[in-house]
Amino acid sequence: MPKYLRDVMALIHDEVVEKYFGCGLVVPGCLEDMKILDLGSGSGRDCYALSKLVGKDGFVTGVDMTDEQLDIANRHVDFHMKAFGFDKPNIKFVKGYVENLKDAGIADNSVDIIVSNCVMNLCKDKREVLSEAYRVLKEGGELHFSDMYADRVLSDEIRSNKILWGEGLSGALHWKQLFDLAKDVGFETPRTVTYSDLQVTKPELKKLVGDAKYAAVVYRLFKLPKGADRNASQVTYKGTIINNEDEINFDHNLTFKNGASMTVDGDTAAILKQSRFKENFMFQEAPSCAKYSEVKEENPFNLLKSGGAIN
Ligand SMILES: C[S@@+](CC[C@H](N)C(=O)[O-])C[C@H]1O[C@@H](n2cnc3c(N)ncnc32)[C@H](O)[C@@H]1O
Repeated sequence: MPKYLRDVMALIHDEVVEKYFGCGLVVPGCLEDMKILDLGSGSGRDCYALSKLVGKDGFVTGVDMTDEQLDIANRHVDFHMKAFGFDKPNIKFVKGYVENLKDAGIADNSVDIIVSNCVMNLCKDKREVLSEAYRVLKEGGELHFSDMYADRVLSDEIRSNKILWGEGLSGALHWKQLFDLAKDVGFETPRTVTYSDLQVTKPELKKLVGDAKYAAVVYRLFKLPKGADRNASQVTYKGTIINNEDEINFDHNLTFKNGASMTVDGDTAAILKQSRFKENFMFQEAPSCAKYSEVKEENPFNLLKSGGAIN
């Protein structure tokens, strides 16, 4: 965790931190003034960290279906408002199901960024969750989420096992299913931010999952306007994103350094030009001889085999 984030996390109330049950870090860069939605916000740790980072003119909404979790999150709204030096809260927690955000009052095209931490694997209908996320995101918006994936389509026996469901192990998608679903719903190719191996260590669970392997992955999925220009482009980061003045990580393969020009493929250029990042980059036509890699679907288990975890 970078220092600015450690500093923010140190301000979060102990009870909120103690009841954190996430499996990754869902704090993308470039957050000032953003409207953020957290799917399955739990006790609110990520929401509170994000509410500090979006600043007083941004806003964070957490949606969760469980009263106990919502109660903890709601208990500490005032505490964090004061700790962050805001005059009024820039956060709220709403009871609802992530498969049906309409009922939770989240309008079409109303959110800049959605985050979610270890929740999707607990939802029966992943397509519904992704479709709802797509509906409520503005064009150029991003779903940035951490979850567990399996190296195979899990057997019916594993998927119907209650103990494994509670651990999030039954509901894990095969990584490729996520890429297919994201495409069906309309998102750009998922970009892999971080990935790590998840070892099932408890003997009783190990026996149940057999040979299945698991990984925790943070993906970012962008919603772009239809017909966005997709020409490769030469891009230069201006160093203007708060807390990322020297460089900004886009995914595990791509880091933009302040002042350094590089050529990116058409899909990446489209994301940078259409999203909240656009003011922070200069764009020029790509030189005809420029070399760049095309975005492809990455198998996290192959990434783990070839280079170990990236956290
Ligand atoms: C593993 S916890 C993670 C909580 C939180 N994201 C964190 O990092 O601490 C999963 C959370 O998702 C919520 N949840 C699970 N399925 C949900 C659904 N379909 N709709 C809304 N919330 C859901 C649970 O109530 C729980 O708070």
